[in-house]
Amino acid sequence: MDLSGKHLVLGLTGGIACYKAAELCRALIREGATVQVVMTAAAEQFITPVTMQALSNRPVFTSQWDARDVNNMPHINLGREADAILIAPCSADFMARLVQGAADDLLSLMCLARPIAKVPLLLAPAMNREMWAHPATQRNLAQLRRDGTAILGVANGDQACGETGDGRMLEPADLVQDVIAFFRPKLLAGHQVLVTAGPTYEAIDPVRGITNLSSGKMGFAVARAAQEAGARVTLVAGPVSLATPRGVSRIDVRSAQDMYAATLEHVAGASIFIATAAVADWRPANAAEHKIKKDGSGASPQLRFIENPDILAAVAGLDRAKSGELLCVGFAAESQDLLANAQAKRIRKNIPLLVGNIGPAAFGKDDNALLLVTADGVRELERASKLELARELIAACAKFERANARHSGVPA
Ligand code: CTP
Repeated sequence: MDLSGKHLVLGLTGGIACYKAAELCRALIREGATVQVVMTAAAEQFITPVTMQALSNRPVFTSQWDARDVNNMPHINLGREADAILIAPCSADFMARLVQGAADDLLSLMCLARPIAKVPLLLAPAMNREMWAHPATQRNLAQLRRDGTAILGVANGDQACGETGDGRMLEPADLVQDVIAFFRPKLLAGHQVLVTAGPTYEAIDPVRGITNLSSGKMGFAVARAAQEAGARVTLVAGPVSLATPRGVSRIDVRSAQDMYAATLEHVAGASIFIATAAVADWRPANAAEHKIKKDGSGASPQLRFIENPDILAAVAGLDRAKSGELLCVGFAAESQDLLANAQAKRIRKNIPLLVGNIGPAAFGKDDNALLLVTADGVRELERASKLELARELIAACAKFERANARHSGVPA
């Protein structure tokens, strides 16, 4: 549970997206957060405090004159105990009032009265596309950012009014991912990370090919963990059907050759390269132009193979990698003798950090166990979710970067 121990004020303002706030409240609680709901009068037109109280398991506050607190100051008390205030949905009007420092209802009063350095404010705007695009809203948005407010979204798509465009509130699952990322330490701020993930597919003919059991889950988790740590992330993904982690730029490829080309094209600005992909070592020498047919004789087609380029070796051979400007991290999917194979592979690939795992125990699963192998030692990461392991790996990469001693040192 990624929000364990976090106490959030969830503010609702007037907008049809209030119906999504119910699901958001549940999703935040599912991640371990405690949620105190505060609603404006306009929000009460769209969803009732009864619903939000039932879902949050706490009385909802709607008025600055609410006398339940003994000192009669809910605007002070509620803000002081929160780790963050999340306003979802945040209307155009509420944005404008935040910019002005208005304080004529409980939620705006609480935002103004919060200790600004200790209680961050996160907004998930929701409005019609014309309202969003209006210069007034865009001015307010820029000012809110200057004031240190985090803006989550907006999404593009169908709107309740029947129009299509920017201004939708992010889906609850996306908002939860953004809130989780907000609280993660920014260990890789300013870094660019390039990740390869998933299997590759090597065509035999237009309808058949050779692939492997990699699901891409580990690589996608690594991309998410790097993004959460503040890096700009490019993910070169083989054929998998996984959702792109929030804020990650994704390039879909099919074959090892496509992955090789895409990786070399995007490695230029990267400071860290993490090769999690299970790249096919060989491809059919000549993919048939048309489907290979049985000829009735019972003879099977004779396939010849040629070796694919080694993407990791190519990147590790770049001058920037050799001079230590580009940290290269490899993965080894083995079926036996993990430690010895991983150590040998790290030396053969000439990289500072190699991550070993047992392929059959990892492929397709949501959890894994890893060995981090460096020149100076081995660190075992016990079986855990791939996201947890990915976060540990990213922390180890950050430590490498900080130490700037990329060819030695046991990761943290
Ligand atoms: N890798 C790569 N390009 C390839 C093959 C592998 O970039 N053509 C990368 C993988 O993404 C991984 C690492 O190299 O980070 C090791 O992959 P693995 O398949 O375990 O090792 P191989 O080099 O293929 O060695 P072997 O098949 O002998 O185990």
